[in-house]
Amino acid sequence: MSFSAAIVATLASSEQGVQRTTRLNESGQSHVLQFWDQLSPEEQAEMIVDLESLNFMEINNFFKTAMKTSGQNSQEKVDTRMEPVPREVLGSVTRDRECLKEWEEEGLRCISENKVAVLLLAGGQGTRLGVSYPKGMYDVGLPSRKTLFQIQAERIRKLEQLAEKQHTRKCCIPWYIMTSGRTMDMTKEFFIRHKYFGLKEENVFFFQQGMLPAVDFNGKIILEGKGKLAMAPDGNGGLYRALGTQNIMKDMETRGISCIHVYCVDNILVKVADPAFIGFCTLKGADCGAKVVEKTNPTEAVGVVCKVDGRYQVVEYSEITLETAEKRTADGRLLFNAGNIANHFFTLTFLKEIVRIHEPQLQHHVAQKKIPYVNTKGQLIKPDKPNGIKMEKFVFDIFQFAKTFVVYEVLREDEFSPLKNADSQDGKDNPTTARQALMSLHHRWILNAGGHFVDENGTRIPAIPSLKDGTDLPIKCEISPLVSYGGEVRGIKAYFNLNINPRVFFYFI
Ligand code: UTP
Repeated sequence: MSFSAAIVATLASSEQGVQRTTRLNESGQSHVLQFWDQLSPEEQAEMIVDLESLNFMEINNFFKTAMKTSGQNSQEKVDTRMEPVPREVLGSVTRDRECLKEWEEEGLRCISENKVAVLLLAGGQGTRLGVSYPKGMYDVGLPSRKTLFQIQAERIRKLEQLAEKQHTRKCCIPWYIMTSGRTMDMTKEFFIRHKYFGLKEENVFFFQQGMLPAVDFNGKIILEGKGKLAMAPDGNGGLYRALGTQNIMKDMETRGISCIHVYCVDNILVKVADPAFIGFCTLKGADCGAKVVEKTNPTEAVGVVCKVDGRYQVVEYSEITLETAEKRTADGRLLFNAGNIANHFFTLTFLKEIVRIHEPQLQHHVAQKKIPYVNTKGQLIKPDKPNGIKMEKFVFDIFQFAKTFVVYEVLREDEFSPLKNADSQDGKDNPTTARQALMSLHHRWILNAGGHFVDENGTRIPAIPSLKDGTDLPIKCEISPLVSYGGEVRGIKAYFNLNINPRVFFYFI
């Protein structure tokens, strides 16, 4: 759509303005200025900042490629090209118990030598959870009221202590936190307010991923306000571009980091820099590794790690037929059972290669969304069905480039409980399930350490308490990460007399 001569005059009043206007016209996106003359000078200034940060031709190309590839992936094609993860690249906490100690020791050694960093993906919008602040600041209602950020920070602190103790040398695990335009300021302020949860400020780095505008099904940028483009972060795979533009790898190199654990902010059970995972990957000589949980229900909507045309990737549930999803091996497991939990190991060398060579080849995925927009009358409309797309890259898109790829299988109940939805929704992956998953894990830690719970009269409560009058009263047990990183028996015994009244909430800060 063309816009009025008055607008052109305002926008074109500088050489930069002329260029901007020309760029918008040439890329067919000039409709974003349709309300220009109704904006205040401040709103105009803000809009100019947004427009200046975007390359419209590049956005049009992203759209074309993303739409083309999303249409190409017909179910049949992926189904026939898929192979499961071979046993020789798989390590499993249940099937390889005898190796766990060796892997863990190797991981702790790497940590003690300051070779391990953790990288948190925290740039998402958390739309399903529906809070106005970053998800890491969420308190799921644990007895301690700790937030996800605090839990993760304390796990890092404890792990540093464990590595130091084992190898009698001081060490540190630097924490790189990817935020987005929407989460950066609040995240930083939160860390400052909480004094970095006991970590050293110089070992916590914030960096920002890119944003892209949401577009309609014809590739036209959507306006969420008269002077505001509907911007969204470019997916957790935006990591690779951000790493390149913000000198993060230089810092890692200077510190002598050789491997990086990448994970998502919303998994309350995440074992940050899990030494057994790090050790397994390192001893296998892997440049890239994925932690998975066993998928047991064929219809569970989880992506599976597998090979397609001989290369590793994650295949989404929607990309395969039910027949393939239901296939089983002789031992009764699902054939494609490596459920991706977005929890990865990368060497720094591999990441550098990705950023230098492969990042531009990664294509955006298309997510159809209901995107609030202003109509031609300037009224805000909240659509009840998808009206446009967000373009996102995914963190696992780089598996295909790995030279030595490994998969590490862990128990879901020990390591994976993501916070995605608000409590009012379908009862899955919400604050209640996250809270209960953590307390249930810590309950099991006490039992494994030889402890038991007692009621008010001192009578022992069975390991699985019976529910009175049908109400669920799970034992409220929370153990601070500063007491135990992963249920270490010695750590737990040192703190508790292991004769515990569950109605007295206990935790150690
Ligand atoms: P999700 O895909 O679950 O998205 O992110 P989300 O933003 O948390 O929630 P919804 O979909 O809006 O409800 C998985 C992980 O990837 C990160 C998130 O912060 C989370 O840790 N992420 C997601 C990014 O870092 N950047 C993105 O652009 C998207």
